[in-house]
Amino acid sequence: MPGQVTFTIDGKECKAQEGQTIVEAARANGIYVPTLCYSKYVENPVGACRSCTVKINGNNGAACINRVQEGMNIQVYTRQLEDMRKAIIEALFVEGNHFCPACEKSGDCELQAAAYRYRIMAPRFPYRFPSRHIDFSPKHLVLEHSRCILCQRCVRKIRTEDGKKVFAYHHRGAKGTVEIDPEIARTMPEELAREAADICPVGCINFKGKGFDRPIGTRKYDKEP
Ligand code: SF4
Ligand code: SF4
Ligand code: FES
Repeated sequence: MPGQVTFTIDGKECKAQEGQTIVEAARANGIYVPTLCYSKYVENPVGACRSCTVKINGNNGAACINRVQEGMNIQVYTRQLEDMRKAIIEALFVEGNHFCPACEKSGDCELQAAAYRYRIMAPRFPYRFPSRHIDFSPKHLVLEHSRCILCQRCVRKIRTEDGKKVFAYHHRGAKGTVEIDPEIARTMPEELAREAADICPVGCINFKGKGFDRPIGTRKYDKEP
């Protein structure tokens, strides 16, 4: 079929549209590739977290930014790749402060779900317990920076009606944080604030309101990670 490519994932022959990312192509063939910074609702994947690392013709590559090509040989579920993904999840836990029972996102959190998926009991790295501020100043949001995994979804996705970015990177490297535009934070409509809270994969962007309104046990990942 024109525009279609044939490739293998873990030895299984797959077909997908030329130009699809490996994550999309794999999912179209019923194969789940673990992801965190990728979201099907956010354009322009950036490959920020590397939790989707696969082998592409023998070399490591992020499945959310690399695209399928004819004859490609992709490996997803090798022991080495799974351990690498697990290490990435563990590193994200120690780089922030994640006390899940006290977190509004618990049960809906993609990082927590990944930790359950990889059966992480305790991370292999030492905790860093960073001291980061909590920003209560936005009209409809509370930003818990110690839970941010710098996935950039909010930076890429959330814009005002006239196209202005609401979130942006502050500093680079280890001191990097994602901050909200203070002027927009004061005036942004409730729907946009809700969209920001929803697109955040963890409990960093929280909508102000009644806590634990949806009881634990009824949330997205409560039964299956
Ligand atoms: S953001 Fe996720 S992993 Fe972190 S405390 Fe909240 S539920 Fe736990
Ligand atoms: S605030 Fe949330 S969506 Fe934005 S970069 Fe941090 S974790 Fe990602
Ligand atoms: S999901 Fe691919 S790098 Fe984060």
